[in-house]
Amino acid sequence: MKKINHALVTGGAGFIGSHLVDELLENGSMVTVVDNLSTGHRSNIDHLNDRIQFVEGDIRDAELINRVVKGCDVVFHQAAVVSVAISIQDPPHACDVNDLGTVQVLDAARRNGVRRVVMASSSAVYGDDPCLPKSEEMVPKPLSPYAVQKLTGEYYASVFKKLYGLETVCLRYFNVYGPRQDPTSPYSGVISIFMDMATTERVPTIYGDGGQTRDFIYVKDVTRANFLAATESAASGKVFNVGTGKFIRIRDLWDLIGKSSGVSMDPVFGPPRSGDIRESVSDISKIGKHLGFQPQVELRQGIKDTLHWYRSL
Ligand code: NAD
Ligand code: UD1
Repeated sequence: MKKINHALVTGGAGFIGSHLVDELLENGSMVTVVDNLSTGHRSNIDHLNDRIQFVEGDIRDAELINRVVKGCDVVFHQAAVVSVAISIQDPPHACDVNDLGTVQVLDAARRNGVRRVVMASSSAVYGDDPCLPKSEEMVPKPLSPYAVQKLTGEYYASVFKKLYGLETVCLRYFNVYGPRQDPTSPYSGVISIFMDMATTERVPTIYGDGGQTRDFIYVKDVTRANFLAATESAASGKVFNVGTGKFIRIRDLWDLIGKSSGVSMDPVFGPPRSGDIRESVSDISKIGKHLGFQPQVELRQGIKDTLHWYRSL
């Protein structure tokens, strides 16, 4: 197990990135954050002001990314256009950030002596393969520009390892939730939207019949997986699912959030979203075997803690 001396977190003012920064500081690392605040917020890292270096800027800016990566031994690459729906509306923009941005980060890392890059990939790469649960051995079948871009990032990571000896690890997150997930866009993560609706007593919309499934993982479990991916030697060059191995249907998710928050409202049903995956649940045996990772937060508990945070806003 190697120690992380100085980490760069791209997208560190975002939802997952800011929790990762908390975790790194708790483990005694120095941290630099680069973020253009397109979907992230200074308020997510305000509590760390004097403990991190924050650089407002874009990962596609080669001069900037080469400057901020200097002296870092590990890079956690979280910055991205994260919405599947936005990637369908504007594929060139999502491609520019998710692919060109990723290549800039990898290139800056290899030029500046970074030991390892841990990349945020996505379960979206599996698409609608009917085979469940989704395991890393399956052939990816992307259904959206976003999924293609995440898969492309994985291929770049593998090529940078082979060509330049840069250690890379790709983590295919399933659906992540928890405090600081921003509910304000219609394309925000579904748990953040449902929490916002429940706490303000507004009726949510479910796209399709609500029978689609997702494997929701609490953000603190995801940051722990990142830490293991950066420090365990067995992780280098591999791709891992980061999920819980359990699933819930979207209509049951609303019932659970409604019950937990003490509201009882029937949702409105809208047309299904194009590019939406029907069934999603992870096989987490590989990350368990190689990194000893097991999720610790049950959905009910995670929902309770997240609700507490939304109520405090
Ligand atoms: P988020 O929107 O909160 O975080 C993304 C961060 O990247 C934001 O702070 C944003 O301002 C920043 N950013 C975007 N474009 C940038 C650019 N060009 N230059 C610099 N910074 C930029 O989203 P999140 O949910 O925390 O997602 C983090 C990562 O995890 C993303 O790569 C996403 O694709 C991946 N992911 C998320 C989920 C999920 O369920 N939330 C699931 C799978 C994968
Ligand atoms: C999410 C992530 C994506 C990640 C992927 C991994 C976000 C915004 N997207 O995509 O970055 O790579 O997980 O699996 O974090 N829904 C409703 N009503 C709503 C909102 C959503 O019914 O108001 C439905 C959607 O149609 C979908 C499901 O809920 O079926 C989940 O949607 P969403 O939270 O946007 O996540 P994904 O598209 O799975």
